[in-house]
This record gives sequence, C-alpha cells and structure tokens, in this order.
Amino acid sequence: MMMINRQTCGVIIAAAAILSFNPVISGGEDFHFTFPEATIDEIQAAFAENKLTSRQLVEFYITQIENLNPRLKSVLEVNPDARNQADEADLARKRRSRDDQSLRSLGKLHGVPVLLKDTIATKDKLNTTAGSYALVGSVVGRDATVVERLRDAGAVILGKASLTEWYSFRSLGKIPNGWCARGGQAQNPYLPSGDPCGSSSGSAISVAANMVAVSLGSETHGSILCPADHNSVVGFKPTVGLTSRAGVIPVLPIHDTIGPISRTVSDAVYLLDLIVGFDPRDYEATSEAAKFIPVGGYKQFLNRDGLKGKRLGVVRNLFNSRNVSTIIPTFEHHLNTLRKSGATIVDNLEISNVDVISNPSKNGELTAMLAGFKTSVNDYLKDLVSSPVRSLADIIAFNQKNSVLENIKEYGQDTFISSEKTCGFGEKERKAVELMEKLSRDGIEKLMIENKLDAIVTPGTHSISVLGIGGYPGITVPAGYDSNGMPFGLCFGGLKGTEPKLIEVAYAFEQATLVRKQPPLSKSIELTQENLNQSI
Ligand SMILES: *[C@@H]1O[C@H](CO)[C@@H](O)[C@H](O)[C@H]1NC(C)=O
Ligand SMILES: *[C@@H]1O[C@H](CO)[C@@H](O)[C@H](O)[C@H]1NC(C)=O
Repeated sequence: MMMINRQTCGVIIAAAAILSFNPVISGGEDFHFTFPEATIDEIQAAFAENKLTSRQLVEFYITQIENLNPRLKSVLEVNPDARNQADEADLARKRRSRDDQSLRSLGKLHGVPVLLKDTIATKDKLNTTAGSYALVGSVVGRDATVVERLRDAGAVILGKASLTEWYSFRSLGKIPNGWCARGGQAQNPYLPSGDPCGSSSGSAISVAANMVAVSLGSETHGSILCPADHNSVVGFKPTVGLTSRAGVIPVLPIHDTIGPISRTVSDAVYLLDLIVGFDPRDYEATSEAAKFIPVGGYKQFLNRDGLKGKRLGVVRNLFNSRNVSTIIPTFEHHLNTLRKSGATIVDNLEISNVDVISNPSKNGELTAMLAGFKTSVNDYLKDLVSSPVRSLADIIAFNQKNSVLENIKEYGQDTFISSEKTCGFGEKERKAVELMEKLSRDGIEKLMIENKLDAIVTPGTHSISVLGIGGYPGITVPAGYDSNGMPFGLCFGGLKGTEPKLIEVAYAFEQATLVRKQPPLSKSIELTQENLNQSI
C-alpha cells in the first residue's frame, strides 16, 4: 500500500486496518470504500468520486497476492505492466472528466484488475502455458479475443491464474485438482484439506481470497462451475459460442467456453457483457450464438424480482444417489426461499439415462475429447509465433524428458498418449457427438419443454455433465458451507441462449440470501518484515 499518496489522493488509509486485512478508504463524511469484497459497482463509484485510483486497487491486489500466494498458489504470474495499465486507466479517467463532464463512466471494467486462466493467450510479458513448463517461452501471435475486449475496455490484466495442468487432460483422474507443474498444488482458501476443484482453480481461489476483482476461466466439463462452487464464488459458464475461444488453448471446441468468475452475480454479468459476441476468428460458433445476445446486453436482467413467475425444475435423480446428505437441508431451505421469491418449484423430476450422461466414457464425451484435443491443440501450437513445442507429440516428448519437473512418475500423461493415438474426427467420433446430442434432446431438452421450465436448479455440481455435453449455460452462486466450512453453491442451468433467465434467477437468489463469506484467512496471514515495510 506504499503507493498511496495521501496528499494527492485525499484518502486516508489506516495502516492498522491494512494489517488486520480490512483496509478501508474513508473520504469525506459518508464515503466509504473497503478493498476486500469490493464489487465493480463499488469500485466504479469510488473512481467516479475520485476516492480511489486503479493504481491503488492494483497495489492492494498485488499485496494480497504477495501475502497469500505462497500458501494458496493460485496465481502463476503477475503482469509486470499491471501498474502501468492502472496508471493509464487513471489518466484516461482524469482526462475524460476534465474534457467532458457530461460523459458518463468509461465502462464497467475500466481500470478494474482481471486475472486470466493460464490458457488464455496474452501478447505481452506474460506466458500462456496451461500450467506446464512445455509452453514457457512460447510466443503467441496476438491476444485472445476476450483479452482484446478487456484491453479495449480499459481493464487491467493483473496476471495469469493457476489451473489443473492442461485442464487435467494430461492424465484424467490422476492429476490432482488445482495442481500444475509451474504453480504446484493450489489450495482451497476455506479449507486447506478441501478440494479446490478444477480446472479453473486459480481463477476461483484468487477471486475468493480477494487477490483480484474478477477473473476469467474456461469450461469444457465443469471447469468453471466446479471450482466456483468449491471456493464460494460465482461461476458463469456461457452457452458455447457466446464468447470467442480464439486464442485460448482448447480441449474440445464443440464444448469449450470462456466465462467469468467473480464474487457477485452482477460482477460476472458485467464481465460477460464485455466478452460476448461475434468473432471472425471463431466464426462458426460465435456467429451461431450471437443471435442469443439481447439488445442492450445482459445487465438489464439483474433484477431483484427475477424469480417471480419462474418455473425451476429439481431433477432429483441427478444427485439423489450421490453423497449430498450434508447439504440437502440447506438445499431444501433454499428451495423455500426460491418459492417465497415467487418461483414455482417443479420437484421430483428425472432425466433419463443419467448414468450414461454422467459418465464421459459412456456418453461419447471422452471419445470426442481424445480426438478433438489432439486436432485442436496441434492447430493452436502451429499458430504460435515461436514455441519449444509444436504438437501434442512434442509435448509428450517434453514431459518424458522433463519427467521430474512435470511429475510424470506420479501423475503420468496417459490421456495425452491416448489422444496422440487418435487420428482426427472420424466415424467413431461423429457417432460420439451424435450420442451426446441425442442424450441432450431426450434428457434436459425434453424435460424442460414438457415441464415448461425456465431453468433447473441443483445443489453443488451435479448438473455439470448435463450442461457439458450439450454446450448449455449454467451459473453457480454461493449457497452455504458444510460443517467443516467447505463451501457449496446452487447451480442454475438452462437451454442454449437462456442466459437472461439464468441471470434473473441467480441474481434474485443471491440478493435474497447473500450467503458468501470471505475465507477465514486473516488470522493466518503472516506479514513478513518486508511486507510490513511496504505497507507503512
Ligand atoms: C515468462 O517466462 C519466462 C521464461 O521462463 C520468464 O523469464 C518470465 O519472467 C515469464 N514472465 C513472467 C511475467 O513471469
Ligand atoms: C459422505 O459424506 C460424509 C460427510 O461429508 C463423509 O464423512 C463420508 O465419508 C462420505 N461418504 C462417501 C461414501 O463418500
């Protein structure tokens, strides 16, 4: 916090407050800005009042990262240009208000620090590596499209978030959630022994622990929804194609999607508004999904009464046989809240073939992924300006050669090797895709149409497979903590393009419950002498 200049900013920062992990800016009688849990609206209000600078925000988050990352290991790299970008944003804001008072704000993300999953390419000093040493030093041709949009909007690229290495696709089931060679084992900030889930682990943990304002993750099968659920943050998995995947390391393009992770539904929606839309670099998927984008964007659906008149389905056979007994009472309580807020709960529904749908080896998903990954990752690697590896075969060879660094002995690279053995999207893969489409048609599509549902609601992560194999959207909202303190969320899912309804129900549920708590980290932060000096 050393960068804060009391004279020029006119803000008072109590050093004692910083040390107790609760820094507050008070300027004037009724102005109050608290760094931890700051929302985008609060940040923009503080900017507009000249009570906060983007630079101060960046300094706060970098201090948080310095303090917490040795334990949480959720950030791989901090952008050496983050402070400069913040200064530029501050300058632009100053100019704007001097030149034309009538102009409203510069946009919701202007000056706001964003962390990117380490699979989202940036053409700057940051590496883009999927957590693996194999891609360190590779040079991308340009920013991912979602990053271009962030930069155009004046957002600050704070750095790269850790993840389960290669989306865990190096060795499915063997690589622990949140582990990558470059970052080590990331930790759940609520429960050190708790599963951080993956693969967007770092994106979720960092937001949960107030190491950044918002982040981007990606999902093919649960990779946004699950870590968000397990780390008590909001995760928004958009309909496939709503957000461009150009410049993002792929898994299976027919299912890959990029989405926000944040502490509140409105923050997720502001970020979504910025990154959606047609992109010629991801032509087919984005041109198809662009028709779903409402005129005026998504923030108009942040409606406190959003649950009124909604029909929400509870598909009991998605989770009845699972070990959910500890969260079921809270779930039932939340169902009552949803009813009281005006929704109709259509209970005791069943989707047919749930066992097949939930099993990637049976539903066609794994077959499609094995072939799709090889083809698409080879395309990504070929596009790089320069890179130590140019193909999946090169990565496998790199891992063999650097087996200690990549912990090949323990975690293996079985899935990579299986993927390398495939040769493109043939008859078998087309059949696999057809099977997923049929399971979706006979499953969630039929259920939602027959019951006239607006969304389905699930405790925890049990709708991930249903949403994954159909490219459907979902949003998870913090819903509680079990007796050990382990978080869980409520997940709302729906058919393609139903983001407006999902936002209405998720926002109304969030506002009716406000369950999210900060992780219990403050006591365990050990400020080193160096940090102390910096803080004063
Ligand atoms: C990117 O990787 C290179 C090579 O290891 C390293 O020197 C550089 O510091 C990395 N960039 C950042 C921002 O950490
Ligand atoms: C079910 O959950 C309880 C409480 O979290 C746990 O103690 C138990 O080991 C779990 N059982 C199984 C079979 O996973």
